[in-house]
Amino acid sequence: MTSPIKPPDGNWWNQPVNRRESIWLGLGAAWSLVLFGWMSTWTRIGDQNPIGETLRVDSDEYQQKMSEYKEAATETEDGLVPPGTDVYLNAMRFMWDGAPVVLETGTEYDIHLSSLDVQHGFSLRPEDALSKQINLQVLPGYEWVVPMSFDEPGTYHIICNEFCGQGHRTMHGTIIVEE
Ligand code: CUA
Repeated sequence: MTSPIKPPDGNWWNQPVNRRESIWLGLGAAWSLVLFGWMSTWTRIGDQNPIGETLRVDSDEYQQKMSEYKEAATETEDGLVPPGTDVYLNAMRFMWDGAPVVLETGTEYDIHLSSLDVQHGFSLRPEDALSKQINLQVLPGYEWVVPMSFDEPGTYHIICNEFCGQGHRTMHGTIIVEE
């Protein structure tokens, strides 16, 4: 059987690379180095860098902080009212210890986040616009102090958005923001 596709003529498999092709390959390589350098620079100077402060913490230590905080906080029907502007939350399979918490609009809080067991995702969403969200990672061994203030009163849902086990989809907490 003969193929309708004809082989190209001559020594086509062993030709020197065309000069223009070499130039473009060089430009491509140089541009990829520029982008790589820019990526590295941008993680240092860009505005998108994570806010707040991260500390190393033992999970026992954090639990200690957690219980001191809970003792100082006021328990109400809606949830815990923090004693000051520091708010502690401890992620664990499959709940947010410290939630529900009652906050007020216009105050800048320091939200302390840590995990007791595995990595969890802290996704905070206002109830009336669930697609509006901030997403942070919560890791055991670290305490992340995130400054946060709320402009609008309402219910904010804390949803775990990092798969953490069988009860992952039930891992939910609330922040209630009052005027
Ligand atoms: Cu915690 Cu998923």
